[in-house]
This record gives sequence, structure tokens and C-alpha cells, in this order.
Amino acid sequence: MRLSCCLNTKPDAKLIRLGRIYKYGLSGVRAGMPRVYSRSRSNNMSAKNFTLQNPETGDKVELEARSGTVGPDVLDIRSIYGTTGTFTYDPGFAATASCESKITYIDGAQGLLMYRGYPVQQLAEKSSFIEVCYLLLHGELPSQEELVKFDQTVRTHTMLNETMLRLFNGFHHDAHPMAMVAGVVGSMSAFYHDTTDIHNPRHRDIFAHRILAKMPTIAAAAYKHTVGQPFAYPRNDLSYAANLLHMFFAVPTEDYEVDPVAAEAMDLLFILHADHEQNCSTSTVRMAGSSGTNPYSAIAAGIAALWGPAHGGANEAVLNMLEQIGSVDKIDKFVAKAKDKDDPFRLMGFGHRVYKNHDPRATIIRGAYHKVMQKLGRQDSPLFELALKLEEYALKDEYFIEKKLYPNVDFYSGIIYRALGIPTSMFTVMFAIARTVGWVAHWREMIVDPDGRISRPRQLYLGPTERDYVAVDKR
Ligand code: ACO
Repeated sequence: MRLSCCLNTKPDAKLIRLGRIYKYGLSGVRAGMPRVYSRSRSNNMSAKNFTLQNPETGDKVELEARSGTVGPDVLDIRSIYGTTGTFTYDPGFAATASCESKITYIDGAQGLLMYRGYPVQQLAEKSSFIEVCYLLLHGELPSQEELVKFDQTVRTHTMLNETMLRLFNGFHHDAHPMAMVAGVVGSMSAFYHDTTDIHNPRHRDIFAHRILAKMPTIAAAAYKHTVGQPFAYPRNDLSYAANLLHMFFAVPTEDYEVDPVAAEAMDLLFILHADHEQNCSTSTVRMAGSSGTNPYSAIAAGIAALWGPAHGGANEAVLNMLEQIGSVDKIDKFVAKAKDKDDPFRLMGFGHRVYKNHDPRATIIRGAYHKVMQKLGRQDSPLFELALKLEEYALKDEYFIEKKLYPNVDFYSGIIYRALGIPTSMFTVMFAIARTVGWVAHWREMIVDPDGRISRPRQLYLGPTERDYVAVDKR
């Protein structure tokens, strides 16, 4: 039986939406269906609490509405099953807060993104990726001394165990780099299994430094494998982004000097991708980590989740899409395809679960693009012009307006990576390098959360009821 729920709040009250509630045929379920949420105002209940009432029996359950420092309240539904025998239903967790967090805040309506309270625009303008890493991991901006020490620690852990490097030879030359990176990062749990005690804060720090330092080296090794060039060892005298460019593009036969403009542009992209609260890959890292697994394995799970085109794989998909569209005169045809429910084509780089106004990261990248291209002394890219025209066209279209679909960060990030010489198949790997710090920060928060439990959602079972096994010759 399925009944709808309604949320009854005053117009000015903060909205708390819970997905539809389903009733299970479980023992102990009370008659009727809980149906109405209302703000409690009486019976010694907190003004913030809600009451879930079964309209048939009149039974009530009080649910605490908890407030964060900013943002919508959350309704604590942990008691619902115990008191009503009913689970909540929220596919895709669109209305469910899975944890408490102090790391990143997004206001999708306002297009606001903050790391530890600092707006991403300010960090993009004034900070560096390595400083943002410190901020995300430790909660505060570092002092000069702390920054130098942290930077030095990361710089001096960039080398890979030579055995790990040999793993790349097991991959075909045309293996997708994300598959190689996920595999090799997963293998770090074999290299560092006995030395990683997740309950030891010092070990958690070592894990954080190690994975941050080695991600660019692993990514570059994957790239060198695909192009058949010898691996370029990391240089500890270079900044995080400059070292990555060196490992990508240096060859033994000639000197390679990192272009500081390219390094700066990459640093900016890394800042913008560093964290994004409980997104698909971060939630995956938290979920895998909640079982107490080796943290390198949890990061490998996050990399796998990031790869999908609905998430980090979108930057690669956007470039492929722009190339497929090819010219401005074909835009209307592809927008029509994106709107056609019978056509699986979607406008890649458009839409976001949280941002329904604009993605601040997309705005920053779009703004930075011309500056970067000018500094690099490059002509404007036709691809960028096509992207701008596509954006302009889609933003005037009723379908995109009505569904609040705006360009997200990945609509533009690939175009800059392309300008820096990064091949399309490596775009999502770039995202993974930047997001690693976010994954680690969330994993660390999850491990010490006193409310933390193994992640284990419930389900609405629609399969067959109990039946007897039939021998194969009787079927
Ligand atoms: N093109 C065409 N239609 C779209 C698009 C799109 N890019 N995105 C969403 N829609 C439509 C859906 O068909 C749906 O229509 P309906 O209500 O008629 O069924 C409606 O808009 C809502 O979309 P959902 O898929 O339900 O929204 P959700 O929040 O689940 O998904 C997502 C968000 C995955 C980002 C989606 O917009 C999408 O697939 N975008 C393209 C891929 C992309 O750019 N991903 C990168 C996201 S940013 C990041 O991960 C870094």
C-alpha cells in the first residue's frame, strides 16, 4: 500500500522534505499510515520538532528537527522504524542527510560553495591548492610555518614503490586511465595494509599525506603508459600542480620547463574540484570506509564512483559531446535530442542535483578561461566558443529553464584541461587528483564520528514472497 505524505509548514518555515513513505507488511506495524508532518507547538515539545501522525489511529511520533550552523534543518528519523515499523523511501538520497559534517557547505539556490566557511571564490582568488588541502583536512587555514611544513611533507612523499610502478605494465596500452588509477590506488592497500591502523590518528595523517602526494604520480604513470613514454619521476622542488605537469610532459631527451601559467591554471581547477560535500564519490568513500576497510581501498571505491558520466566522467563526456556537435548550426538539433524523453542523449555538463541557479565553479572557470588563454598566448578555442553558444541557447530554452538546468563545473573544466594539453581521457583523472583531499577529509571525519555506524540502507522489497524450491527436473 502506498500513500502520499504531506509536509505542513508555515510559508516562512524552512522546508524539510522527506521522500514518500511506504508501509511495509512487517510484524508490529500499526494500523493505518503515518501521513501528516506538522511543526509541533505544544505538549512540551520543542518548537523545532515535527510530529508524524497516523491519521487512522491518531498515533503520533515526535521527530526532532536539528539545525546546522547554516542551511536547512534535518529531521532525525532514526526512531521511525522502531516506533512505526515503517522505513523512509528516498532513492538517490535526494532528501536525506547521511551524516553531520563540518567540511563543505553548498547552497544550491544561491550558488554558494564554502570550504570550512570560506567562499570558494575567495580561495580561488587568494589561496593555493596545497593550502586548501590543509584547510579541508584540518579545518583552519594554516600559519605560514604550518603551510611550509605541510607542503614539504606532501612534496617528499611523491615517489611510488617501484613494484607499484610495475603494475602499469599489466595494463593494455589502451586501458582507460581511470581504470588504471582505480586499480593502482586500490593496490596501495596491499602495500600499506599492516602499517595503516585507522584508529591511530598518526596513521590517518600518514595516509592523508601519502595519498595526496602519490595521486599525481599515479595519474602521470597512467598517462605515460598510454602514450608509451618512460615514466618521469616526481620533482620535489616543484609545486603540486607544476610537478604534475612535469611528470606528464617531461621526456628524457630534452629539458622540460613547466609553464607557470599552466601550473597556476591547474592549481585553480584543483581548488574548485577539491570538495563538494556528500556527492556520489564522497558518499561512496564514506560508505566503503564505514565498514572499517583499508582507507586506500575506500579511495579506490571513490575513484570508481567518480568515473561515471553523471559525475566526474562528465568533463570527458562534455568534450566528446562538443566535438560531436561540431558547429554552432547543429546546436538546435542536439538540444532537441537532449529534450526528447525517448532519446538517451543528455546535454553533458548541464544540470546538478544541488545547484538550481548556477554552479559557482562553472562561473569561475568561465571567467578564468580568457585570462588563461591570453596568458598562454593561445588563440581562443573554437570549442570554447561553441560551448558559450550552446550555453546561451540552452539557457533560453523553456525545458532547461523549467528544470533549472545550468552548466556545471564540468561544462568548462575540460576545455581548460584541453588548452593545457591534457588529453580528454585524462580529464576525470585530473578531477580525481583534486577530489582526493575531499575524500580523505570526509573519511577522517567519518572515522571519528561518534554517531558513525556501518552504512547499510534499507529497501522496499517488491520481489516474490516466500516459496518452495522446485527441483530442476520438475520446473
Ligand atoms: N540534459 C537534459 N535533461 C536533463 C539533464 C541534461 N543534462 N539533466 C537533467 N535533465 C532532466 C532529466 O531528464 C529530468 O527530467 P524529468 O523531470 O522530466 O524526468 C530532470 O531534468 C531532473 O534530472 P534528474 O536526472 O532527475 O536530476 P538528478 O539530480 O538526479 O541528476 C545530474 C543530476 C546527474 C547531474 C543530471 O543533471 C545529469 O545527468 N547531467 C549531465 C551529466 C553531468 O553533467 N554530470 C556532472 C554533474 S557535476 C559533477 O558531478 C562534478
